[in-house]
Amino acid sequence: MVLDGRLCYGGDYNPEQWPAEVWEQDVELMRQARVTLVTVGVFAWSRLEPAPGRYTFDWLDRVLDLLHGGGIRVALATPTASPPPWFSLAHPDALPVTVDGVRLHHGSRDTYCAAAPAYRAAARRITGLLAERYADHPALALWHVHNEYGTTCHCHHAEAGFRRWLRDRYRDLDALNDAWTTSFWSQHHSDWAQVSTPRATQYLPNPSQVLDFRRYWSDELLAAYVEQRDLLRAATPAVPVTTNYVLGDWVPVDHGRWAAEVDLVAIDHYPSDAGPAAEEQIALAADLARGWARHGAHHHARAGDDDLPGARGSWLLMESAPNLIYTPGRMHTREPGRMARHSLAYVARGSRGAMFFQWRAPRGGAELFHSALVPHAGPDSRIFREAVELGGMLDRLAEVDAGAVEAPVAIAWDAASGWALQQRALPSDRIHHHTEVAVAHRTLRRAGYACDPVLPGDPLTGYALLVLPALYLAGDDTAAWVRDYVHGGGHVVVGYLSGVADEHARIRLGGYPGAYRDVLGVRVEEFHPLADGEEVPLTGGGTGRFWAETVRLAGAEPVDAYAAGVLAGQPAVTRHRYGDGVAWYVSTRPDEGTYQRLLDEAARVAGAPPTCPDAPPGVEAVRRRGPEASWLFLLNHTASAQRVPTAGVDLLTGAVVEDAVTLPAGGVAVVRERAGA
Ligand code: GLA
Repeated sequence: MVLDGRLCYGGDYNPEQWPAEVWEQDVELMRQARVTLVTVGVFAWSRLEPAPGRYTFDWLDRVLDLLHGGGIRVALATPTASPPPWFSLAHPDALPVTVDGVRLHHGSRDTYCAAAPAYRAAARRITGLLAERYADHPALALWHVHNEYGTTCHCHHAEAGFRRWLRDRYRDLDALNDAWTTSFWSQHHSDWAQVSTPRATQYLPNPSQVLDFRRYWSDELLAAYVEQRDLLRAATPAVPVTTNYVLGDWVPVDHGRWAAEVDLVAIDHYPSDAGPAAEEQIALAADLARGWARHGAHHHARAGDDDLPGARGSWLLMESAPNLIYTPGRMHTREPGRMARHSLAYVARGSRGAMFFQWRAPRGGAELFHSALVPHAGPDSRIFREAVELGGMLDRLAEVDAGAVEAPVAIAWDAASGWALQQRALPSDRIHHHTEVAVAHRTLRRAGYACDPVLPGDPLTGYALLVLPALYLAGDDTAAWVRDYVHGGGHVVVGYLSGVADEHARIRLGGYPGAYRDVLGVRVEEFHPLADGEEVPLTGGGTGRFWAETVRLAGAEPVDAYAAGVLAGQPAVTRHRYGDGVAWYVSTRPDEGTYQRLLDEAARVAGAPPTCPDAPPGVEAVRRRGPEASWLFLLNHTASAQRVPTAGVDLLTGAVVEDAVTLPAGGVAVVRERAGA
C-alpha cells in the first residue's frame, strides 16, 4: 500500500510558484478536499540548486513539514526533467539534437540529452542529495522519478550509446547487417563507426534501424531511471519508487518492459476527445496501465521475487486534468460531474486513486491555462467544489484497493509492433497497432467484456480468449506463445498485419502471416489496402474497411467472405480448430456492428463471460474482486437515469441495494456485491 489504507488523491503541487503564505492556505484547502497525496518538486531543480553546487532546500523542508502537519503524504519528485539554465550553459554538449541535426536551446523543459554523461551525473547528484535529506521525512510516501520520460536525441552521445547497445545485441557487424538487410540500397557497414542513429535522410530510412533506435532509446531512458531509482532505494528500501508514464505513439518508451523496474506503474492521462470517445480512451489507458503492472508482477514472479509489484494489477493515475483538456485547436471543458465519473472509471480499472495536474493553477508560465483543482477563480468555484466531493467519494472507496479487475479476455499489446508499423513504406499508412488495439478494446468494451492487455510471452492462464490486433512483429518465441496457447485449448482472434514480420521487421516468407499460418489454417497471398472511405461488402451483411486480403484456406473454414470486387467469393473471416483450441482470422476491419458480433461470438464460444450482462448500453460495468468481497463499478455515461440489476451496498451512498440500482444521468455506483447475488 502506498498510503496505509487510503486511496491516493491529490496532484502535482508546485509551492515553488507561490509565496509562503499561499502554502498554508493550500494545506487547509487540501484538508477540505481530503487530499491524501501530493507530488512535490517535479520541476523545481532551479529552485533547489539555483547555482552550481549552491543548494536551497530550506523551502522544501518547510513545505514537507507543513504537509505532514496537515496529514498529507508526499510523492517526492526528482527534478531531472528540467535542468536549470546554468546547467545548459555549462554543458552545451548535453543539449539535445533533433533528427535534423539542430541543437535545441534552453527555454522550455526536457531540454537535455538523456545519454549525455554530464546530464546523467548532474541528475544522480541532485537525486542523491534529495534521497539523503528526505529519507526519514515522515511525509514521504513515494518517490516520483523525473517526469514523463520521452524525449529523444541524435547527438554524438546518443550515437555512441546506440553503437554500444547494438554491439551488445548483435556482437558482430555481420549479424547487424543481416538483421537490418543492409544489402538493400548499399547500406552494408564495414565498420561500427559507420553506424549512426536514424537522422533525417534523403528518402525512406531503413525500418530495422529505426526500430532498433527506438528500442535502444527506451533502454537508455530506462537506464537513466534505474540509476536514480537505485540511489533512492538504497536510501529508503521501504519507499516505493515510480515514474509517470506519458502515453502516445510518439513516446520512445516500452512501458511494458519498464514495468519490471518500477514499484508502481503510474500513468498520466489526458483524453483527446470531449465526447464519449473520452470514456473509451480512459478505459483503454487504464487497462494498459493494469496490463503493464501485471507484466511487471509476472517478471518478478519469474525472477523468484516474492514481493510482487502489480500483483493485483494495481497502478496509479498520476496525472489527469480536472477541467480544461487540450483538443486540437482549443481546450474543452469537462462538464459538471465528469471529473468524478472519469476518476472513478480509472479506479474501477485498477488505479489506486486519482491524481491531477495540478493542484493550483499558475499565474504565468507556459501552461498558464491548464486546469487545476484550485482554478484561477480560487476555491469558490465549481471545480473546487467538485474536487471536495471527489475527495469524499474516494474516501468511501478505500476498500476496493484489495480487489483485482476480473478480465476473461487478453489483448496483445507490443510497443515494438507499434513502432514498426510507423514505418513509411507500408502498403497502407492507415494501419497502426495502437489504433487496432483501441478498436478491438472499444468493441469488446461495448460488448460488455473486460480485457487485460498482455505482452507477448506473458502467461495466458485464465484467459478464455486472446486477441491479436495488428501484432505486426513476431519472433519465433511469440509465434510459439500463440501456438502453445491455442494448442492447449485457448481461443485466439488474429487480425490482419499480425505476425507478418520477424523481430527485426523482416518479412516472414511463404505467405502471410508467417508466424501464425499453421495455427490459423490460412495462407494469405496478397494484400489489398483500401482507399479512404472505400468499403468492401461482406456476404454476412457487413462491410470491410481500410484493408483486405487474398486469403487461401489451408484447413480453416470460412466464416464471412468478400461479396464484391476482385476478392468476391473469397474468405474474409475464417475459423480453424487447432489442437484443443480455436483460431479466428480477420483479414479486414469489419464495421462496428459486424466486429462486435464477431468478437461476441468468439468470446461466447471461448466461454468468456461478460461482466454484467444486464447493464444497459452506455453503462460501463467493471468488477474488482478481492479475497473477501467483490465490487461492481457502474458508470452511467448516458444523459438519462439507468437501472441495473444487482444487490449489495452502494459504497458511495451507503444505501442497501436490494435487487437493482438506479443511476442518475452521469451517475456512478460502486456496489459491494452481496455474496452469491
Ligand atoms: C504532462 C506533464 C505535466 C503537464 C501536463 C499538461 O502530464 O507531466 O507537467 O505538462 O502534461 O497536460
